[in-house]
Amino acid sequence: MSNGSATAVNYWPKSSCARAFWSQRELPPYRQLLRDTADWLDPQPGQRWLDLGCGSGQLTRTLWEKSAGSLAEIIALDCAAHNERALAKVRNSVCPSPTERQMRFVHADFSDGLARFDSGSVAGVVSGLAIQYAESYSEERGGWTTDAYESLLADVCRVLRPGGTFVFSVNVPEPAWSKIALYGIPGFFRTGHPLRYVKNSVRMLRYGAWLKREARRGRFHYLPAPVVENKLTRAGFASVEHRVSFAGQADVFRCRAPSAR
Ligand SMILES: C[S@@+](CC[C@H](N)C(=O)[O-])C[C@H]1O[C@@H](n2cnc3c(N)ncnc32)[C@H](O)[C@@H]1O
Repeated sequence: MSNGSATAVNYWPKSSCARAFWSQRELPPYRQLLRDTADWLDPQPGQRWLDLGCGSGQLTRTLWEKSAGSLAEIIALDCAAHNERALAKVRNSVCPSPTERQMRFVHADFSDGLARFDSGSVAGVVSGLAIQYAESYSEERGGWTTDAYESLLADVCRVLRPGGTFVFSVNVPEPAWSKIALYGIPGFFRTGHPLRYVKNSVRMLRYGAWLKREARRGRFHYLPAPVVENKLTRAGFASVEHRVSFAGQADVFRCRAPSAR
């Protein structure tokens, strides 16, 4: 991880943080985000897809189910090794059942880029509320920069085959986590594990406070939609569009790698 500040903690790779966010899928705003993202996914038989910051694997599951199990491969990448367990659960619960190769976990930090993937090697890339955490610290400039975020966007464009799709969500500036929690109240009455639900919601709010603090000092990137659009265009993407989702706390983007290079 390119992190020049020795004091900066990163909770994402920790298993307690990974587990807290597994329960996000029970929140109605998250279900809406998943639907809005899925709407823009069009996986075709035999294709290879990449899920960046896969977490509990909800988008990997969505891709597999939308393709009716016809994809050649989904690579679910995350910096938290613990998420491999969540992905194994997804692999064991979807129908038709994928082989290990058809749905595999890669433990990696996308702040370091995507050098392990060849240019033009995937048909599509998906990411849910994750790429905004690409981090880079400049000793020279004495602060956090957007360099890792911007080079990740350029790298996504590089690994996509011509015309390939990138569908992802990112949070809006100063996201109101309280709004997400409020919409989550009905979930408390529906869940079979109310105590676990409350515990994980409190944990998520605590991590949420850390994320907002770090975003304010430029380490993480909760940016207005036009700024993200501009970064996508500069990274080489075309046909950029977006819509608001997640109870107004995130934007979903869809764009394409150029059809000829
Ligand atoms: C808010 S969660 C979203 C998880 C999942 N995409 C979803 O939609 O449910 C953010 C995910 O990004 C991962 N993440 C954060 N920073 C990362 C990094 N630098 N490299 C790889 N994964 C990262 C976290 O471990 C976490 O699983």
